[in-house]
Amino acid sequence: MISYISAFSVLAATVSAHSWVECSNHDNSLLLPWMQGNSTLNPPVIIDPEMPWYANFCHGYPRNKKNPGDWIDESTNYSWDIIDNVFNGGPSHPPNTNACHPTQRTPTYQPNAPMASAAPGDSIKLFFGGNGHTRGSNVPGGDPGIVNVYWKGAPEQEITDVSEFTSANLLATGGFAGESFSYPADPNIKTPAQGLVDKGNWLTVKMPADMAAGRHMMVWVWEAQGKPTWSTCFDVMVGGSGSGSAPAAPASSSSPSAAPVPAAAASSAPAAPAYSAPAAAASPLPALPSVVAAPAPAAPSAPVAPAPAAPVAPQAVQEPAPSVSAKPKTRACKAPRKRKVEFTA
Ligand SMILES: *[C@@H]1O[C@H](CO)[C@@H](O)[C@H](O)[C@H]1NC(C)=O
Ligand SMILES: *[C@@H]1O[C@H](CO)[C@@H](O)[C@H](O)[C@H]1NC(C)=O
Repeated sequence: MISYISAFSVLAATVSAHSWVECSNHDNSLLLPWMQGNSTLNPPVIIDPEMPWYANFCHGYPRNKKNPGDWIDESTNYSWDIIDNVFNGGPSHPPNTNACHPTQRTPTYQPNAPMASAAPGDSIKLFFGGNGHTRGSNVPGGDPGIVNVYWKGAPEQEITDVSEFTSANLLATGGFAGESFSYPADPNIKTPAQGLVDKGNWLTVKMPADMAAGRHMMVWVWEAQGKPTWSTCFDVMVGGSGSGSAPAAPASSSSPSAAPVPAAAASSAPAAPAYSAPAAAASPLPALPSVVAAPAPAAPSAPVAPAPAAPVAPQAVQEPAPSVSAKPKTRACKAPRKRKVEFTA
């Protein structure tokens, strides 16, 4: 266990904190009340929005995000470590100032994990893991910091370098824990070791009303103590055919040669962009399946009232082991390697 306070002085903090966007268009309108309601049961039931049986609530994914995902793999191979790549410099480690992870430098999408769609003026919710840090545990200064979304302001424009994380490119900002739900409610419980379980962190991003039709590249950045630490890159198709459809493959996109990724539903997704005109009437959120659209009535005698046709209904305090069996039930970050980060005071 890495201890920020004991291991280093205030100038040199060990940061094993990390987080990344799991879903770029997440509907938490049922999940959040479920989390709140289940947290009051005796014993409390912890709802993890990332479990596969809640996948229907995700209507858009970041670049190259797998669905279903594997938390362990994403933790080491997917999240982009800006701290390590940009700020841990020195002659042997020249800065790599890329804004995005190597797998996220083109608008490449995995099967069953399309980019988000929205109409101008819509809001989307980015869903990211609190990973035990929501109340400031294991982050510099005990402050979980903020999350920002950067955007170049026009379709088909890429943010490629951390120097483009500017106020001019800032689309949305909020606290890392600004839209979070953590167990237990007692804010004095601050660390996973004390029992903190932070399964739901969101940032609502409003699309400008005058947003042009097309594919808009965005970067979510977690910033601590004024410095970017981790990023996830994603796209929003504005005026597209609606979330859940195959992602359009803009002509400018190119799959990384080292790891060609099949387009979702390639047979129906020609290379030509599928978006040609704004379609403000397009529903950004397809109707949820009836099983989730109609919440099961609360059953006083039973802590959890499973919906009739729910594929899996968690019934115990600890949810059943997910299919990604390696996922730890507590998301305290275990960084793949120890990092020593200089945060100048
Ligand atoms: C608990 O969560 C389930 C979904 O897993 C939901 O159907 C149920 O209504 C929730 N109970 C309360 C009291 O919120
Ligand atoms: C990360 O990717 C490497 C190379 O593809 C692979 O060997 C490794 O198993 C992956 N890590 C995890 C945790 O899956």
